[in-house]
Amino acid sequence: MEFVSTMQLIFATHNQHKLLEVSKLINSNVQLLSLNDINYTQEIEETANTIEENASLKAWHIYNHTGNNCFGDDSGLEIEALNMEPGVYSARYAGMHKSDSDNIKKVLHEMSNITNRVAQFKTIISLVIDGEEHIFEGIIKGSISEKAIGTNGFGYDPIFIPKGYNISFAEMSLDEKNKISHRSIAVGKLVNFLNLRYGL
Ligand code: IMP
Repeated sequence: MEFVSTMQLIFATHNQHKLLEVSKLINSNVQLLSLNDINYTQEIEETANTIEENASLKAWHIYNHTGNNCFGDDSGLEIEALNMEPGVYSARYAGMHKSDSDNIKKVLHEMSNITNRVAQFKTIISLVIDGEEHIFEGIIKGSISEKAIGTNGFGYDPIFIPKGYNISFAEMSLDEKNKISHRSIAVGKLVNFLNLRYGL
């Protein structure tokens, strides 16, 4: 008789869209639970100064709280000419309560006289499993456009043109973006790891 492994894994997020995106990629033997599913209603404060540390602190926070295997993620836009900013501060680059379009405006303003438009999106996933941490990184390289173009997606999508393309993330369909995005690269590495190490 074949032994089939299963595992419960908490994704340290309240964001159901992220949960759905990951659950599409992950083996069905993994029972994926969000913070809502475990009735954890508080926000986990992202107090660290790097994307890596924020992903890690979310995963450890929930692991220590529940004793359950889990992972956390954090992402950001890194622009070479701005010393890799906004980076960990991507969500609040223009200020705490500002919108995506305020953040875009600020980036375009900072870049107004800059010819080096090289940028990348980065996602880090920290998986804490049986008390051990494993890190998975997803990077997509590209450039910052001169103006915002396109209406799909979120965040900085209208000003990010992935390398090898001549349209912004916001001009791509969600499926098209998800095939190449930083998040999907990091999730792919997580899925591979679970498969190789745990047969999931
Ligand atoms: P999070 O850690 O995935 O919530 O991402 C933090 C911030 O980075 C978001 O609020 C966005 O401003 C930016 N960001 C992350 N991923 C993307 C993306 O795929 N497109 C556009 N902006 C993104």
